[in-house]
Amino acid sequence: MSNKTIGVLFVCLGNICRSPTAHGVFEHLVEQRGLSHLFHIDSAGTSAWHEGAAPDSRSTAQAKKRGYALDHLCARQVTSHDFKRYDYILAMDNENLANLQRIQPVNSPAELSLFLHYSQQSKYDEVPDPYSGGASGFTLVLDLIEQTCEALLETLLSENNMNKPSSQ
Ligand code: 4NP
Repeated sequence: MSNKTIGVLFVCLGNICRSPTAHGVFEHLVEQRGLSHLFHIDSAGTSAWHEGAAPDSRSTAQAKKRGYALDHLCARQVTSHDFKRYDYILAMDNENLANLQRIQPVNSPAELSLFLHYSQQSKYDEVPDPYSGGASGFTLVLDLIEQTCEALLETLLSENNMNKPSSQ
């Protein structure tokens, strides 16, 4: 069996609301399925504004209500190394995606896309920035992320030929 792992990096602007939520939810799902050995998962921001900070307490509280822990996460900015280390770099909105495309090194194999590209709903193509809004924005972020992570996992396993039973 190959030792290759799939690198998944979730990216938003501040790395304190949307991308740490996606990081925590996807990590939880992968753990639940017993697939942690197949993935390396992280999150980062296109800005360094909150470097070193814990996730926003509103995101942590929403996530905790649904059984996800975000307390172990710490904000950081995307680096050029991320474009080598991660196979999939998933942006929460079009501005994040454009900023990532602008700094992606020419020889980087990382696949950049919108996180909601993997979603089965069609109402939203971006995860709206909840930072300056009310509680409903944080609920929407978590709803969209929860709805998408399952499909994301299935797609990544399939694209990487990892969706077969390990006995084969
Ligand atoms: P995030 O949300 O990109 O989902 O982490 C934001 C966090 C902080 C700011 C904007 C968006 N900010 O302006 O500081």
